[in-house]
Amino acid sequence: MNSKLIAPSVLAADFGNLQRDIEMINKSEADWFHIDIMDGVFVPNISYGMPVLKAIAKHAKKTIDVHLMIIDPDRYIKEFAELGSNILTVHYEACTHLHRTIQAIKAEGMKAGVAINPHTNVDLLKDVIKDLDLVLVMSVNPGFGGQSFIENTYSKVRQLKEMIVNHSASALIEVDGGVTDKNAAKLVKAGADVLVAGSYVFKAKDQLETIKGLKKIANS
Ligand code: DX5
Ligand code: ZN
Repeated sequence: MNSKLIAPSVLAADFGNLQRDIEMINKSEADWFHIDIMDGVFVPNISYGMPVLKAIAKHAKKTIDVHLMIIDPDRYIKEFAELGSNILTVHYEACTHLHRTIQAIKAEGMKAGVAINPHTNVDLLKDVIKDLDLVLVMSVNPGFGGQSFIENTYSKVRQLKEMIVNHSASALIEVDGGVTDKNAAKLVKAGADVLVAGSYVFKAKDQLETIKGLKKIANS
């Protein structure tokens, strides 16, 4: 069985001490850096953009997992590759020609992911599932950290896992939003491979121990 991965969300970091928080992730048992890019149009919030990602990439020593919450992401695929993104995830709801977008991401040498909002049925990914490296299941409505986990996520993850197995596909399932020690075990049992955690990690007194604990729950 492959080991389950932990991806701290940098959105919840202290931006005044960004390098310190990046080094904390480098030192920790976390596997990926989860980077949330928001445009204020697809989601009702603006996070950070290219210059900040560039600064993060300079110090980050682990896989950079970029979650684009922007409309018309095709405009920036090349730039995100050049900035050091290893995985680029676009939203199903933001792409008219999703298949083309996935191919364009791969053509730039990145792994391709598709994210689905809480209201989006997993069945809509059936025709592209074999092309995907990752499916990101939103377990809150995208736009903000610190929201509470939507319980319907477990059943979505189970359905998605079944689809992946039935199609002999190899996409990883990533769950993003409201992940804590309270839901991690059940998410992994449902089929999740990667757990994103923002506030749960960064609001903790001992962030290294919190990551270690989550990793342990996910792999036990
Ligand atoms: C929300 C973002 C998440 C967010 C998760 O739109 O996609 O990655 O940072 O934060 P928490 O873990 O605090 O819900
Ligand atoms: Zn995210």
